[in-house]
Amino acid sequence: MTIDFATGALVPDPDVLDRRLADLDGYFVADIDDPGVGAYTVHEVRVPPTGNNLLSSTTVLAPGKVGDEYFFTKGHFHAIRDRAEIYLTLSGEGLLVMALEDGRTVTKEMRPGIANYVPGHWAHRSVNTGTTPLVFYAVYIGDAGYDYATIAERGFPVIVVEGEEGPEVRPNPRYVAS
Ligand code: PA5
Ligand code: MN
Repeated sequence: MTIDFATGALVPDPDVLDRRLADLDGYFVADIDDPGVGAYTVHEVRVPPTGNNLLSSTTVLAPGKVGDEYFFTKGHFHAIRDRAEIYLTLSGEGLLVMALEDGRTVTKEMRPGIANYVPGHWAHRSVNTGTTPLVFYAVYIGDAGYDYATIAERGFPVIVVEGEEGPEVRPNPRYVAS
C-alpha cells in the first residue's frame, strides 16, 4: 500500500467515506451555515474487522470553522471500550481531544511526525486548527467498532475555538455530564 502524505490517498482500492457538515448537525455550539460543505474524508484499508487484524485508515479533515469552533471529526468511543489506537499525523496541524466517560479530558498536539497513542476507554476527536487539511493515519485493533451515539448525545467535555492568540480549549457549554 502507498500513502500520499499530502492528500491522504491510499493505493490500492480503499473504502472512502465522505462527511459533510450536514453529518455534524448538532455537534457544534453554533448553527451550521452551509450543510453541503465537505468536512472530512476517511480512506479505509479493506481488511476484515476481526480481533486478529489491524485496521488502518487515513483521515483528511478540512480547515474551517463553525462559529468560533474549528472543524472536527464526530469523535467516538470504541464499541469494545478497551481497544487502543495510534494516530500518526502526516500533514497539517491540529489537536487530538480525548475524553473518558467520567468527563476527564486530555488534549494533544497533532503535527507531521507526531504519533499519538489513544489508550482504550478514551473517546477521541481530531480538530483542524490550521489553514490546510489535517491528514493523519490511524491504526487500530480490528474488532474495536464505533460507538458514536454516546458523543452524539453528550458531546465532548471541551471544545476548541479560535481565540485572540490562537486555538483555545474551553469547557463545552452543551456537554451533558453523566
Ligand atoms: O479510527 C479512527 O478513530 C479514525 O479513523 C476515525 O474514524 C476518523 O478520523 C473519523 O472520525 P470519526 O470516526 O469520529 O468520524
Ligand atoms: Mn477510533
